[in-house]
This record gives sequence, structure tokens and C-alpha cells, in this order.
Amino acid sequence: KRRRFLIAVAVVVVVALAAALGGVLGGKKGSESQGATGDTSGSSRGNGTGTSDGPSSSSPSSVPQPARAGSPLTAAAMRKSDGGLDLRLYFLDRDNRLVWAHCDTLRPLADGESSCWEMGGRFPSYSEPDSQLAATNIVWATQMRPQTELFYTGSGTRLLGVNFNDNFNPRIMADSIDGVGWSTGSESALAAYWPWLVHQDATGALVHVRNNPPANLEPGAVWGAAGINVTALVGTKLAMVPASANFTRIGGWGGYAVFYQGRDSRLSVAMSRLNGSDSSLNAPLSFPTTLPVINVPDKAPIAAFTAARLNDADQRVDAYVLYIDG
Ligand SMILES: *[C@@H]1O[C@H](CO)[C@@H](O)[C@H](O)[C@H]1NC(C)=O
Ligand SMILES: *[C@@H]1O[C@H](CO)[C@@H](O)[C@H](O)[C@H]1NC(C)=O
Ligand SMILES: *[C@@H]1O[C@H](CO)[C@@H](O)[C@H](O)[C@H]1NC(C)=O
Ligand SMILES: *[C@@H]1O[C@H](CO)[C@@H](O)[C@H](O)[C@H]1NC(C)=O
Repeated sequence: KRRRFLIAVAVVVVVALAAALGGVLGGKKGSESQGATGDTSGSSRGNGTGTSDGPSSSSPSSVPQPARAGSPLTAAAMRKSDGGLDLRLYFLDRDNRLVWAHCDTLRPLADGESSCWEMGGRFPSYSEPDSQLAATNIVWATQMRPQTELFYTGSGTRLLGVNFNDNFNPRIMADSIDGVGWSTGSESALAAYWPWLVHQDATGALVHVRNNPPANLEPGAVWGAAGINVTALVGTKLAMVPASANFTRIGGWGGYAVFYQGRDSRLSVAMSRLNGSDSSLNAPLSFPTTLPVINVPDKAPIAAFTAARLNDADQRVDAYVLYIDG
């Protein structure tokens, strides 16, 4: 039963992405241009980019830009109060500039439209041909319902971010992480589940980044980073999931799991401290961190998601991992 569920979800994801790219490649008219400037004044979260070179795209465009072959993809989705689903897909266009497409599944289709997907267009960023992407959502108070955070590497291997929030003006802004000045290893992938982000340094060690440390659940323009005592294959892909259905445990203590490829080529997982000295946040683990022996081709794509277990008093999740086999 679980296997069927997994396949069903995988098919939905593939269909959704295919539809998105079909819309992009089919040259569907863009819905609007984004007046984003990267100016973050007036936002409690925003901050200047802190970089001296200019963004690679200073003139947002509504012209549909086909995705570049081999572009990284990252998506974020959230259920809306009207029951519809809001899907956001981010990728690089043929000029290696960051673009996004979005779909409101309840939006009435205009004549001639065959899918809900619309181009959001380019937005200012420091993207480069080898930029890595990881999108995640913040749900907080009324201002962030939700706010999508797109983390990416650019301008060298700088760790950068862009906020997408319809409640702010402009709706797309550079994130405060730009001002921190952290860099990743040159082959690092990115994975994120708010308030956490994981990347890899040049030695292969995995590093996690937290918004508003040590355990403040309210989003803020403060960031912390620490090694997690895991050394992975250099250039491993990363996938990150919440390891609990309770956000207080995820945000407050570190209840996430990150899947990666070990130096022995095996699919591996590290789970952060769901059981620790803060016993109020302790919880039985959802799954063991010793996986069956699965050898994957070097740097093979990895994706993962978790689903809450129905009526589970311990708020555990079931985890599903997708990877490309050799
Ligand atoms: C905001 O950016 C400025 C200038 O780059 C920097 O000095 C400051 O530390 C940043 N603040 C935060 C909270 O990131
Ligand atoms: C780091 O990992 C090693 C090997 O798994 C382990 O022996 C060591 O205790 C860990 N150190 C910390 C501080 O967790
Ligand atoms: C989530 O976990 C926290 C910390 O253990 C607990 O206080 C809270 O009641 C939990 N929330 C729900 C909805 O169970
Ligand atoms: C984690 O903590 C909970 C509650 O204290 C406990 O019941 C559970 O056995 C612990 N799990 C592990 C793997 O240590």
C-alpha cells in the first residue's frame, strides 16, 4: 500500500514538473512582471545583499524563458485556505538566470490555456551556470502565510536567498542571509526545510544553517551555522525532510533528516537531535538512521519527502526517498 502511495506521489510530481516545463517551453504568455529590486527596506526580514557586484538580472522580464537543459529544479507547495494548491517551481533559464513558474490549481483557465502553470519571470539574483537551488516555505503569523524562501548558491559559492511573499512590497526580495557572507564547497548541493538549510564544505563535511538560532521559532534576520559531524561524498546530492509532524520539535530542536551519499557510495541519512538534553522536545524517532545497503552512482539525484502518520500520538512521519539507480 505504501509503495503504491509512493508511486502515486512520484507520478504527481513528475506530471506537475512536466506540465510546468511544458508551459515554459510552450511559450505560454507570462502573467506579469515582477517589480523586484532587491531593496529590502521596510521588511523586518530583509537586508541588503552585501555584495559589490550587481545582480545578474536587473530587468525582470515577463517573456517566458525556456528552462536550460540540465537546470537544477526546486519546488515548494502549500495548501491554500480555499482548498487549492499553490505550487512554485524555480530553475535556471537559457541565460542561467533564475526564473520561476507557479500554479494555483483552482485558478480558472483562460481560453486556450491547458494548464494552471504561469511564468513568474526572472527576478534579480546572482545566479551562475552551476548555481544550486533549494526552496522551502515559512508559515508564521499573518505576514508569512506563506513566504517561500529560495536558497541558492551564486556569485562564486556564496550562500544566498530570495523571499517570495505576496504580503510584502515588493513581493520578491533578497534575503538577509545574503549579508552573512557564507560560502559552500565548490561542489555543494543544497537542501532546505525551514528553519534549516544543509550544504557541504570543501572537505565533504555537511554544515547546517539555522535561521534565528539557537531555537527561536520566529523568523528573523539572524543566522547560525554549525558542522553536523557527517562527512559525505564530495558533491553528494542532498534531500531534507521534517522528521516530526510537530514544528516546535523541528524548529526548536532540529527534528530534520538529511539524506546524502556517503563516502562509501551508500545512500545514508543523518537525523539531527530529536532526542537530546531538552527533554520537552524529545520524541521517539520516526525511522532508524541505519539504512539498508543501497549503493548509488556517484552524485546521483536524491529526493525525499515525509508524510505525517495519521493519529500518531508521537507525531511521527513516514519517509519516502527517491534516487536514481545505477
Ligand atoms: C545587513 O547587511 C549589512 C551590510 O551588508 C551588514 O553589515 C549587517 O550585518 C546585515 N545584517 C544582518 C542582520 O544580516
Ligand atoms: C562524530 O562522529 C563520530 C563518528 O560517527 C563519533 O564517534 C563522534 O562521537 C561524533 N562526535 C560528536 C561530537 O558527535
Ligand atoms: C509539539 O511539541 C511541543 C514540544 O514537545 C509540545 O509542547 C506541543 O504540545 C506539541 N504540539 C502539538 C500540537 O502536539
Ligand atoms: C526519544 O525520547 C522519547 C521520549 O523521551 C523516548 O520515548 C524514546 O525512546 C527516545 N528514542 C530514542 C531513539 O532514543
